[in-house]
Amino acid sequence: MAYKTIIEPFRVHTVQAIDLPDHDAREAALVRAGYNLFGLHADEVIIDLLTDSGTGAMSTRQWSGMMLGDESYAGSRSFYRFEEVVRDLTGYSEIIPTHQGRAAEKILFSVAVNEGDLVPNNTHFDTTRANVEYQGATAFDCVCAEGRDPSLEAPFKGNVDLDRLRGTIEERGVAKVPLVMVTVTNNSGGGQPVSMANLRAVRAICDEFGIPMFLDACRFAENAWFIKMREDGYADKTPKEIAQEMFSIADGCTVSAKKDGLANIGGFLALNDRDWALQARNLLILTEGFPTYGGLAGYDLEAIATGLEEVLDEKYLHYRIRSTEYLADTVHEAGIPTVRPAGGHAVYIDAAALLPHIPAHEYPAQALAIELYRAGGVRGVEIGTVMFGRAREGEPDEPAAMELVRLAIPRRMYTQSHIDYVGEVIIDVASRGADMRGYRIVEQAPWLRHFTARLEPLD
Ligand SMILES: Cc1ncc(COP(=O)(O)O)c(C=O)c1O
Repeated sequence: MAYKTIIEPFRVHTVQAIDLPDHDAREAALVRAGYNLFGLHADEVIIDLLTDSGTGAMSTRQWSGMMLGDESYAGSRSFYRFEEVVRDLTGYSEIIPTHQGRAAEKILFSVAVNEGDLVPNNTHFDTTRANVEYQGATAFDCVCAEGRDPSLEAPFKGNVDLDRLRGTIEERGVAKVPLVMVTVTNNSGGGQPVSMANLRAVRAICDEFGIPMFLDACRFAENAWFIKMREDGYADKTPKEIAQEMFSIADGCTVSAKKDGLANIGGFLALNDRDWALQARNLLILTEGFPTYGGLAGYDLEAIATGLEEVLDEKYLHYRIRSTEYLADTVHEAGIPTVRPAGGHAVYIDAAALLPHIPAHEYPAQALAIELYRAGGVRGVEIGTVMFGRAREGEPDEPAAMELVRLAIPRRMYTQSHIDYVGEVIIDVASRGADMRGYRIVEQAPWLRHFTARLEPLD
């Protein structure tokens, strides 16, 4: 394109009103919610960047396709369309729909993982970690060194550290490593991509030890786009060809269709191993439903099938990745510390660097997230000590590795003026960083406390 403005490759067809609550309403909402942004009503939020999961806008093709939904309990036409699209994309023979990504994880790990096992991953997403640990196994993260340095500019910071992977398999013993996973893109590591070369190298290690390799492929299309843009030899390939090549390297995948499926709900497990698939389908019937709907309505399967086609459109992916990068660059150029380079789906502000006067146990990232909401009604999420620092009862918090505020961008939902507004709010709030104070937790649950904790501002 000759011009620099990123135009959305769609026009608005149906609108959903935003209430634009004023400052007093936002302050009252904060007090009511105990300064926990999960406690806000969505109507109290102006721009909601809490997550990109299931929050995107569906297309006219998806909505009209839903009218074709076949709700037959067994053998629904919509399932066979879904199966065809997923098989064409991934090349895997066994396609098992689930109601969302974590259900696919739960089923895969119930089948494949035993107590005392270890599952390596570049970085486990929290549900993936929890599902591995629920089997009594160890979820082991081995992202490359670049991926652990937030400010470093490198093209594939989601890559697996191959030496650590090999060393860990040797140390634990092959028999205790039932599979290796790679998350594309690496959500918990800043939405950073994994290169094709790294996927091939992981495969070579897996082959050497005879271990199956799986992708956590929620954001497979965004990862494919980064490969096209950044890796030698891929510039002339289509995103679909690149995605197909990524899937062909592994033996199977778990997917939440709420991300690159461009749907509001859904997921799947896809794999080649018939024996594992048989066991998985038996569990599916127990928890999700019959194998031709797996916890979804026929119309959901239609929406996902169409979403998986639309997400690989180059114009869409260009807009998607550029608009995330645009927000990240706006903030970066204003001197605000962020995870670099921009990830695929979110901008991560480094609150520890921005607010060095607030110690981890006074929750700098939570303070920043609250201030973004108070100032401009922008809701992000704290990824720091509130989320990860819970110690045993009566003991002080353990500081999280990083204090980040994640602003995740829903797909096809906000326009450039919304994104410009978010940039303005961040820059304004950051300019007042020195005046910001920390918080203390006054009420918390014994696990996953960030969802329900209540906090109070410190004087
Ligand atoms: C990398 C990754 N894996 C798994 C999941 C879980 O998917 P779901 O929320 O559909 O259960 C997510 C959700 O955000 C994710 O980002």
